[in-house]
Amino acid sequence: MAQENVQAEVQPTQLALPRHVAIIMDGNGRWAKKKNLPRYMGHREGVKAVRRIVSACQKRGIEALTLFAFSSENWRRPKTEVGLLMDLFVHTLKKEVNRLDRNGVHIRFIGNLTAFDPKLRSLMDIAEQQTAHNHRLTLVIAVNYGGRWDLAEAARRLAARAMAGELEVDDIDSEALGGELCIADLPEPDLFIRTGGEQRISNFLLWQLAYTELYFTDLLWPDFTDAAFSEALQSFASRQRRFGQTGDQIEQSKRA
Ligand code: IPE
Ligand code: IPE
Ligand code: MG
Repeated sequence: MAQENVQAEVQPTQLALPRHVAIIMDGNGRWAKKKNLPRYMGHREGVKAVRRIVSACQKRGIEALTLFAFSSENWRRPKTEVGLLMDLFVHTLKKEVNRLDRNGVHIRFIGNLTAFDPKLRSLMDIAEQQTAHNHRLTLVIAVNYGGRWDLAEAARRLAARAMAGELEVDDIDSEALGGELCIADLPEPDLFIRTGGEQRISNFLLWQLAYTELYFTDLLWPDFTDAAFSEALQSFASRQRRFGQTGDQIEQSKRA
């Protein structure tokens, strides 16, 4: 009995940890509305949650964190909100990049970046270049990103290679297509988190999430704390990932 208790105590440090976490940071607007504040204040508060979760990942030794910051559909929002979000991106990049760099974070952006104004694009370029040598955590920010766009781009690139005679049409398989997608060089996300209570993917990483463990919480993004992140990690650790196999097969391979 005593032995069992000891095991239960040491277990948390041995929890299976995701290598790559992908998050839909949703609920900023509702957070502000609840407090009778303009939606913009919710986005500003959301930046603080980003800081918290980036350090939470670093503290735990997670390799990659992908954050959905602006979807290809978010342009449909009122012009003023889109404008304020762009201003917040610029402001945040200027303010945070040096600190992230000092902390060993490699920043990357995915999405159709051609849509952004040159000032923002150059800040993104600088952030990527300045932090390219860092290896402690890869922070991927998805902006003007859509999973369908990602897949269409990959298909277009494969078609261009086939037209140029570099690739046979018969060589186009799921490995070839997957290899052309954004973040193909990173491990696929192990854990997906969506805050804000909605249970949908909203055109985030459609292909890359094929075998990701999904976790939904009603907490609004600005309220998402280190403790809430720990709960998501606990949930992840309690799941058996089978990738099509049976539970017994997984248990056997663990013992082998
Ligand atoms: C997520 O929060 C941030 C972005 C999409 C930029 P929302 O702005 O979608 O917040 P809700 O869903 O309206 O509360
Ligand atoms: C998804 O949130 C996109 C981001 C968090 C950037 P939305 O708030 O845009 O998603 P929908 O519209 O509710 O599906
Ligand atoms: Mg939303």
